[in-house]
Amino acid sequence: MPRIYEGEGPIVVKASGLAAGKGAIVCSDRDEAKRHIVEIMDDHRFGSAGDTVVIEEMLVGEEASILAITDGRVLLPLVASQDHKAVGEGDTGPNTGGMGAYAPAPVVTPEVMEKINTRVLGPILRAMTDREIDYRGVIYAGLMIDEAGDPYVIEFNCRFGDPEAQVVFPLIEGDFGQALLDAANGTLSQDALTVSEGAAVCVVLASGGYPGSYGKGFPIEGLDVAADNIFVFHAGTAEETDVPVTAGGRVLGVTALGDSIKGAVDRAYQGVSSITFEGMQYRSDIAWRALAREQ
Ligand code: GLY
Repeated sequence: MPRIYEGEGPIVVKASGLAAGKGAIVCSDRDEAKRHIVEIMDDHRFGSAGDTVVIEEMLVGEEASILAITDGRVLLPLVASQDHKAVGEGDTGPNTGGMGAYAPAPVVTPEVMEKINTRVLGPILRAMTDREIDYRGVIYAGLMIDEAGDPYVIEFNCRFGDPEAQVVFPLIEGDFGQALLDAANGTLSQDALTVSEGAAVCVVLASGGYPGSYGKGFPIEGLDVAADNIFVFHAGTAEETDVPVTAGGRVLGVTALGDSIKGAVDRAYQGVSSITFEGMQYRSDIAWRALAREQ
């Protein structure tokens, strides 16, 4: 039975189906929300993903992503990360699939992680067990951490996050492939993986115009200048003759490791500075919240 949202503050309207990370729209009031609902449901802005919409009160806080693997019995959370969904500096403008990410996310203190374990991850595992769902694989919990350090679930996905994976995987120590196999076989152990010291930062290089319309086929220069502890992940790229070209909205993810978030940020932007393609855009403030905490 649909429920009517009675609140007065900002409202979030979401296409219920998959919309490439762009289906959630923050509206300042009911009139704006109604306009977006018409666009989603009548004008089919997100295709059939918008046949059902979710309307929620806007949560205020800091987002964090918890990627975890489970064999249905043991749930192993990986290091907490934070992505930057908005296209603009200071987390402004329309949402994207993610313009950058960093890990660890300092908003997830040990106390907050304890709450996430007891209030989110434990209950989801128990709920699946109660419903006899033999789920083995990845659980992605997209959370909002409010001012009091309380976690609220925004979404669950049964996949890794992008660009969160680009900062979480480089920090994992241990045999990740074996851990995934163990998850599939029902033999995952709670201490299968550990997290290395230090931090990772990923800056996404996107096509001009993204998340709106953008051109494709622009040659990408400077990819061979990668340095130590810098990884360039390909997303929206294609190979034309010998030259990689742009082929999507989010083109590349430049990840760097460092002893601290600041060290990783500096190194990531150093990597970014060597890469060019026509219309290239990126955010120059990735990890700003963590940097503010580090200072
Ligand atoms: N970065 C958001 C997601 O992967 O859903």
